[in-house]
Amino acid sequence: MSRVLVVVKVVVLVDPRTFCGGATVVSWRVNNQEQLFVSKQAIFDGKRAIRGGIPVVFPQFGEWSTGPQHGFARICRWELKKPPERLPTGDVEAMFQLLDNEFTRSMWNYPFSLTYRLILREKELHFNISVYNPGAETLSFTFLLHTYFKVPDVRRCQITGMRGCTYIDKTREGALYQEHRDVVTVNEWTDRIYQNTPLEHIITNVVSGRKMRMQKYNLVDTVVWNPWVEKAKEIPDFGEEEFPNLVCVEAGHVSSPVILPPGTVFEASQILQVM
Ligand code: BG6
Repeated sequence: MSRVLVVVKVVVLVDPRTFCGGATVVSWRVNNQEQLFVSKQAIFDGKRAIRGGIPVVFPQFGEWSTGPQHGFARICRWELKKPPERLPTGDVEAMFQLLDNEFTRSMWNYPFSLTYRLILREKELHFNISVYNPGAETLSFTFLLHTYFKVPDVRRCQITGMRGCTYIDKTREGALYQEHRDVVTVNEWTDRIYQNTPLEHIITNVVSGRKMRMQKYNLVDTVVWNPWVEKAKEIPDFGEEEFPNLVCVEAGHVSSPVILPPGTVFEASQILQVM
């Protein structure tokens, strides 16, 4: 597996030689400190998704009858459309593209063009996504950025912005609840899809006790996930002692599908900022 160095601080996997890469951001360093969790047992064999970083979930969030869980984007070979380039502003930009191909057509028989643009700024990482439908049929898909934040102890993290939101609790057979807390904390196996969340979440006590700001546009849902110790045992590429060191806060459009008529584009973005 080759690693394309976007800049010193961001590493994204795109591998021209094998079938994998998944355009997964596997490292983002700010002040020389890693912000993303990647399991010590993550497997970089070019065949499966990376356990950590920021995998791209498309065109299916969750289980899928015609393909792997969370879709194929995270296990596909992407094209590096625009190698890392420093812009006049000092930001660094890179662009990746995934087009339908024989592999994607075997699971989802539609044409599409998925463009993923990353911009690195001091203390910020921007993600711009666009999905174009060049075909004659309407597309229906879900999309999510599966961000694994590295944290010293998940039990000390608080996530803002969910108060009043309904959520699907996947640990309770998908029952629907309403969040009444000002901040969400994680003290057990947690797997929730918060719906119609606000444009911003703050996550406290990430690396060095700092805060992380997540801003999102057109990504109407936020998934909060931590497998905790029991579920961790069921994940082969994850150490059961590792669960305190991650919190997944995942911006997506997942509780209802994106409906994309022919000739139209779905655009969405996420900004992560170390505060
Ligand atoms: C989360 C889902 O987004 O991803 C969980 O809500 C799932 O249900 C988790 O277990 C990890 O998924 P995977 O396919 O990477 O093991």
